Amino acid sequence: MSDPRRVLVVQGPNLNLLGTREPEVYGTTTLDEIHADLAAAAKAWGAEVEFFQSNHEGALIDRIQEAPSWADGILINPAGLGHTSVSLRDALAATGLPVVEVHLSNIFAREEFRRHSTISGVALGVVTGLGPIGYRLALEALLRHLGR
Ligand code: DQA
Repeated sequence: MSDPRRVLVVQGPNLNLLGTREPEVYGTTTLDEIHADLAAAAKAWGAEVEFFQSNHEGALIDRIQEAPSWADGILINPAGLGHTSVSLRDALAATGLPVVEVHLSNIFAREEFRRHSTISGVALGVVTGLGPIGYRLALEALLRHLGR
């Protein structure tokens, strides 16, 4: 049997508040519930996932820099940093790993400042606006890309 595919799931600032944060925009599913669903999906697909959430750009970058020692791909919701951070984009590009970007809300249907992502240009693809299921869809796409 071949080695399991390994995916690092990175969650940006304020996503620890999911469940209570602006529920009319982000729904009521918590981050733990999203992670439990991803872990179950990964198990069913013979893959391994690891989760990392931080409210700090530098901590996110440090974790992304370490990713290639373990992960085959990265699934990231950069949250607000995805609209502003060149450094987060550079860190993802430097890994050389395939990246899928996820947003719970449809960033193109919201304020003007959310309609641009620094990350998308280095991503394999983007899932935006589909809510929590978007993470599962992104994981499936990434695993198919990795040839699970
Ligand atoms: C978000 C969208 C961002 O604009 C926002 O700053 C977030 C969450 C989403 O998942 O819809 O924090 O990435």
